[in-house]
Amino acid sequence: MALTPVADRLTAIDDEHLTRLGFRADDRHDALLTIRRALDEPTVLARVQYIADQLLEQLGIFDRPKDPFAVPEGFDDLDPAVLDKEWGVGVLPLLALVATADDVAGFHAGRGIDPEVSRRSLSDLGQQAWVHRRTFSGFGLHTYPWMRICWSGALYWLGRLQFNLTRYHGDWVVSTHIPESGPLTPEACAESFGWARTFFAEHFPDYPTTVFHCGSWLLDPQLTEVLAPESNMVRFQQLWELDDEQRVGDPDALFFVFRRRGEVDLETLPQDTSLQRAIVAKIRAGGHWQLREGTFGQDRFAG
Ligand SMILES: CC(C)(COP(=O)(O)OP(=O)(O)OC[C@H]1O[C@@H](n2cnc3c(N)ncnc32)[C@H](O)[C@@H]1OP(=O)(O)O)[C@@H](O)C(=O)NCCC(=O)NCCS
Repeated sequence: MALTPVADRLTAIDDEHLTRLGFRADDRHDALLTIRRALDEPTVLARVQYIADQLLEQLGIFDRPKDPFAVPEGFDDLDPAVLDKEWGVGVLPLLALVATADDVAGFHAGRGIDPEVSRRSLSDLGQQAWVHRRTFSGFGLHTYPWMRICWSGALYWLGRLQFNLTRYHGDWVVSTHIPESGPLTPEACAESFGWARTFFAEHFPDYPTTVFHCGSWLLDPQLTEVLAPESNMVRFQQLWELDDEQRVGDPDALFFVFRRRGEVDLETLPQDTSLQRAIVAKIRAGGHWQLREGTFGQDRFAG
């Protein structure tokens, strides 16, 4: 079922709407210009409509979701590489996400979720545009595949941390994410975990969970060898019982610490903090950072 035409929806988007979605001033400016330009391009709008329809089809589906951003070959004669160049990476998905944000808010309301929690959770869209700008110095959304989770209605930003319902080794868990939004103090984390425990039990009783999960470069035990024992990151890591599986985490470490993607010239990276120095030193010495996954029982934190 096709939704209200995205042209009508995008026409209604204004600065205030984008502010609520977490966009900073420069991204709001560029988003509004891009919307105006897209409204004059029927082929581009048709592609945005297709993605928006897919996003709505996937709303409320947390299990085995499809990729809502995949546009079938031959759908139109637009070349994805040219689109990236002329519009910016992830800009068409971004328009579809903006156009469908109110539907996701409606899903939240249907689950009895506080409008402020709904707004904050959807503001991850603007946060990701900010991350894009810091990485590529321009407007875009190269992390758009990540937004699928939030737009499915599974992800909530509760205090310092974000959480989503997902399956891990077959069981439903509450998975934990750490947005770049200030220090990761143990107190703020404890508050978030306590909140998440009661939040999901109250609003998603049909998805019972008992553990928190996290998969991140932050769970690499090698970090404890280079950071102060009382640092926030080491204390965060101590919460988790790690799985044995290890994957290479160098690209994530470089992205989350330096906001760099692809081939990185280590000589160009700032070396101001102990973490920055440690990340570079290990890679330069031929070592690798790891991506690790872990869990712990939700009963550790009172709601
Ligand atoms: C996770 C995060 C909030 C931790 O920040 P924090 O609470 O300040 O961390 P700590 O207090 O443990 O910092 C220990 C040291 O590392 C440095 N550090 C921490 N995060 C840093 C970052 N992203 N870039 C540069 N240095 C960083 C601190 O400045 C400190 O250095 P110092 O010893 O020279 O004073 C921060 O790294 C961040 O925002 N990362 C991006 C988001 C992310 O990685 N999410 C996980 C995705 S899977």
